[in-house]
Amino acid sequence: MSKTLIVSYTPREGSNTEKLVQTFIQETTGKSQITHVRLERDPAPLLLEENLNALLKRNFSGLQLTETEGSAVRSADQLLEQLQSADRIVLAFPMYNFCVPASVKAWIDAVIQNGKTFEITDQGNYQGLCQGKKALVLMTTGSDFSQEPIKSMDFATPLIKNCMQFMGIESQQIAAYGLNQYMHKADQIIGDTQREIVDFLAQSKFLSTS
Ligand SMILES: Cc1cc2nc3c(=O)[nH]c(=O)nc-3n(C[C@H](O)[C@H](O)[C@H](O)COP(=O)(O)O)c2cc1C
Repeated sequence: MSKTLIVSYTPREGSNTEKLVQTFIQETTGKSQITHVRLERDPAPLLLEENLNALLKRNFSGLQLTETEGSAVRSADQLLEQLQSADRIVLAFPMYNFCVPASVKAWIDAVIQNGKTFEITDQGNYQGLCQGKKALVLMTTGSDFSQEPIKSMDFATPLIKNCMQFMGIESQQIAAYGLNQYMHKADQIIGDTQREIVDFLAQSKFLSTS
């Protein structure tokens, strides 16, 4: 059975993003072994003085860490190991200020590690080390980013796509746009997006690893 890692950030009571996560879980229960990280309860560490320097020391200079330095990077390494052992990743979040919420960015900063999820080849090229993994990104937004002029103000979509690609992970996104802009039909938008998730899982063989 494939292993799926769900990483979600849905702090709002009655969260619409959470409804999408629950649809994914309902559709995949019994079909994949699920690990669920809820960043609103267990936040990823921010890169601060202690852990950043320890990560650079280990991942770029190849030096052994002291016990204190090892402790400083432990929570990032736990998130990294969860990603490494998953076949499929679901990343779910609402757009905040045209980008991903800071908690989601902290998760990205924890798992993109030199020598673990990417490497620099002898020729000086970057190479993702997560080949074979696939990701599904579930995003909700208040405004309708499906069309210009604001489509190009969505920095979340390209950020996540590029970060996943950098690690060698093929990703696809399903978004529920305009939940505040079209408040009167927010339930309909969520319902349509839930159906899109169900159809995607049926048609894409997302969970199949063979
Ligand atoms: C702090 C904050 C910042 C937000 N920034 C944006 C934004 O830049 N663009 C947008 O379209 N919606 C923005 N929204 C609206 C949310 O993306 C939208 O309501 C989303 O559906 C909320 O998902 P939830 O129900 O899972 O909390 C913001 C909401 C919050 C709380």
